Amino acid sequence: MPSSLGLSSVFIMWDEETVLHEIYYLTSEGFDNWRKLLALGERIEQHLKRKLLWIWPTDGDLLKCHKVLESFRISHILSIGCGSGLLEWLLTASASPQRRSQITLHGLEVDRNWWQSKYSVQSFIPLTYVEDNRLMMIDDHCDALLFCYFNNRPAFLDYLKLYQGNWLILIGPKPGRGIHTDPNPLQPQLPNHEWRLREQLNWTEANIVAFYERSSVVEVGIN
Ligand SMILES: C[S@@+](CC[C@H](N)C(=O)[O-])C[C@H]1O[C@@H](n2cnc3c(N)ncnc32)[C@H](O)[C@@H]1O
Repeated sequence: MPSSLGLSSVFIMWDEETVLHEIYYLTSEGFDNWRKLLALGERIEQHLKRKLLWIWPTDGDLLKCHKVLESFRISHILSIGCGSGLLEWLLTASASPQRRSQITLHGLEVDRNWWQSKYSVQSFIPLTYVEDNRLMMIDDHCDALLFCYFNNRPAFLDYLKLYQGNWLILIGPKPGRGIHTDPNPLQPQLPNHEWRLREQLNWTEANIVAFYERSSVVEVGIN
């Protein structure tokens, strides 16, 4: 599928189908076009942008995120409620070639009927559906659970109960920005005291990526 579009064009004038066609082209040929994809993202209208991904990071945001992931030795990430998986694709694509061979980003979603329907956008990573094997995915070895713009508190608490690993990555709006997610990255109201905020990155002016580590301190109680 050839790309005929010059990225300097004003994409906002284009119809959804044409923009999606270009995005599928850019993501279909290996990982080299991730910066072109971000440049395209800056030109498309908000509704379609959000349909693909709630928060579009810049190239600098992605590179900073890789530094943090590497410093915490986080290589295998399970993204819960990953939507189209475009963020996970971008994270993979923007890793250095050496790092790319070490990291894995898997996605878990609900509602196969939606993601496989003609109304939804294409998935950019293979999706696993909750209805198939939620338990197995969480039990599998993964270094971190990622929730990006997740907004389902009961499900979030259920996943936390199942998760035995040490890292949580929460991406969402800064508090007070008029957008609600649950968990919010800086006010996640985690159900116990074992999680510590270890790092936070600003993604754009309004969004945060928060890294929480499970504390190894064992709390001693009196029975
Ligand atoms: C606002 S969207 C965010 C999608 C994507 N992470 C992004 O940033 O563009 C929230 C996603 O969470 C998914 N979701 C809701 N409840 C879920 C659950 N119990 N398990 C897995 N995914 C769930 C929804 O289907 C939806 O795709």
